[in-house]
Amino acid sequence: MRVLADGRLHSGTSLANGLGVTRSAIWKQIGGLRRLGLEVDTRAARGYCLGRPLELLDARHIRASLATECQASCDDLQVVWVVDSTSSLLARLPPPEPGKWRAVLAEYQTGGRGRHGRRWHSAFGSGLCLSLAVGFGEAPRDLPTLSLAAGIGVVRALEAMGARGLSVKWPNDVLFDQAKLAGVLVEVDGDSRGPLRVIVGMGLNLFLPTHLSQSIAAEGGLQPGALEAALPGRTRVARNDLAALLISTLWRILRDFPQSGFGPMVDEWRAHDALAGRAVRIHGGGDTVTGIAAGIGADGSLLVDTPGRRVAVFNGDVTLRGEP
Ligand code: BTN
Repeated sequence: MRVLADGRLHSGTSLANGLGVTRSAIWKQIGGLRRLGLEVDTRAARGYCLGRPLELLDARHIRASLATECQASCDDLQVVWVVDSTSSLLARLPPPEPGKWRAVLAEYQTGGRGRHGRRWHSAFGSGLCLSLAVGFGEAPRDLPTLSLAAGIGVVRALEAMGARGLSVKWPNDVLFDQAKLAGVLVEVDGDSRGPLRVIVGMGLNLFLPTHLSQSIAAEGGLQPGALEAALPGRTRVARNDLAALLISTLWRILRDFPQSGFGPMVDEWRAHDALAGRAVRIHGGGDTVTGIAAGIGADGSLLVDTPGRRVAVFNGDVTLRGEP
């Protein structure tokens, strides 16, 4: 895989010689890469090449590119090629000490988990699958709003990379041109008063191979989009730099959260609101609310104008009316 990452053509013989295996073993490995969603072209009698070059994730590169204060609080940062889910892996590891963090990134997840029991689909190297665990000695008072704050963290990092025109769909889907680039799953475990651990799992599409768009579309929910479309000149993304920026930005928000809460981010969230003024339906807890989205409350709730009254929604899956 490392050899093919340059996107150039490599003959079966040179790959076999380089790895000290047979050409048929190479052929099997190529089949394995395709099953992980990688597009590997076969050029008859000439060899194999990736559909596009791939910058593989590198824990040392990411660690060295972190903001200084973030680096100092790192308990552990791992890059794995294949895992069931980066968030599930973190949940199996011991929690970080209060004030410290631990992160896992994967090139491919066999069982990526989304909100509301959905799956998160990605192809090997097509995006970022990142989970960040932090330890809190005491439960932050605004804990339910942490999920919205994490969405803002993703927007800040993507904007710092040059992305423009991003919006947020309550509570934390990051969109460009109405298509979903990134989703965030926040999970909390431990004692409800503390100490507790928060795991922020973020999935981001950098580009979208056709077969991936199809599996995501089959899952229902929003149409998928890719970060590359939101960057000026449709630039290729430096994956390791972006991973470091996301970790540094999310870490800063999580570190400050017990003191600051979501309050300082409310205006920023409202400025990126993808739903305000739109006809929505929210399913959750056996209830359905239908109305016009009217922004968010300071407590992170979604405000919805229904016939006769304004309702604050704290939990649920939002669809735009007129969409499935
Ligand atoms: C959503 O939009 O429903 C949230 C998707 C969150 C996906 C990420 S990918 C990294 C981490 N590991 C998982 O299994 N899920 C999150």
